Amino acid sequence: MTSKEIRKSFVEFFEEKNHKFIRSSSVVPSDDPTLLFTNAGMNQFKPIFLDQIVPEDPRAVNSQKCIRVSGKHNDLEEVGVDTFHHTFFEMLGNWSFGDYYKKEAIQWAWELFTERWELDKERLWATVYKDDDEAFNLWLEVTDIKPERVIRCGKKDNFWEMGDTGPCGPCSEIHFYIGDDLEKQHASGVNNSDMYWELWNLVFIQNNRIEDGSLIELPAKHVDTGAGLERIAAVMQGKDSNYDTDLFQPIILAIQEKAKSDYKINPIPHRVIADHIRMLCFSIADGALPSNEGRGYVLRRILRRASRFGRSLGLEEPFMFELVQVLVETMGDNFPEINEKKNHIEKVIRAEENSFNDTLDRGLNHFEKIINQEDIVNINGEDAFKLYDTYGFPFDL
Ligand code: ALA
Repeated sequence: MTSKEIRKSFVEFFEEKNHKFIRSSSVVPSDDPTLLFTNAGMNQFKPIFLDQIVPEDPRAVNSQKCIRVSGKHNDLEEVGVDTFHHTFFEMLGNWSFGDYYKKEAIQWAWELFTERWELDKERLWATVYKDDDEAFNLWLEVTDIKPERVIRCGKKDNFWEMGDTGPCGPCSEIHFYIGDDLEKQHASGVNNSDMYWELWNLVFIQNNRIEDGSLIELPAKHVDTGAGLERIAAVMQGKDSNYDTDLFQPIILAIQEKAKSDYKINPIPHRVIADHIRMLCFSIADGALPSNEGRGYVLRRILRRASRFGRSLGLEEPFMFELVQVLVETMGDNFPEINEKKNHIEKVIRAEENSFNDTLDRGLNHFEKIINQEDIVNINGEDAFKLYDTYGFPFDL
């Protein structure tokens, strides 16, 4: 299945079960001061969970644009180094607002995975929160998963929270083993090894974390699920890296062409750039702009990180703005905003690349001077600050 078909099939599956399709909200939250970027499909439904508004429909399905580069969910350091974390990704999700609960959520997730999409049951594992006997028993009652493949885990893995405050609850995840040898699977690998990919998280929203850190019970119980489209596409397309799917390959091919480089020989820079251009396009389309503080500074850092990896491939002139077109061709029909704002996005990225190149050229001269000093082992604080403050080097650079 192509990624477009997977997205469509997910939405249709839940529409058949009376869910209403809701468009992805902006990646720039307009009315939630607790978030710099939309980090989960449930963000736009937070007021419903908190009983502040009544939903028009008790069930929803969508594919949400998410960015995880700040706050509680921050995957930036992993991006490009591994093959399955992203700054920007799409989260497929279904919701129940005080309607169905754990039973249907578990049953339908299993049905979609194993019957509709025919994922290999011999590779699937389920986790539940350590004292959630109800979810544990439901896995055995309403699915045909092997009992030894349902495992209990602690708060870190199986109690989901959107941020320091907000709706939250115990969760149950479905993991997929990507290894060649099925016999090598073991419960201890789940959540601990890159050979097991978390594909879907079913959250049973029943609490609200408030500012003093305590949990209060919500008036109703809800379901909030999230499945990463990129990982599902990798599994369904038989790839062991998200970057080998049809979501990323067109961008990677374009980078190779520009840099005359080889993704297979030197994958990390290609992955970083392919990932970061998606984050930049979608956030700029939704109104964010690179700047020196807050959300804008996150964009600036991401652009500079991509630019730096571009240089490692020999791309010293602005090049990222030309990748916008490729992304529009790959995702523009599902997310028309990147098509409509294409010229604006290109202009912003190009201007930012230009200004970073100027700074970097000056900064790299200074950097060379520092590291060419005799006996240098560490760059001292004063020089590091100068590189950051005067030459615009992001801290990770
Ligand atoms: N809100 C849940 C998550 O982001 C589904 O994992």
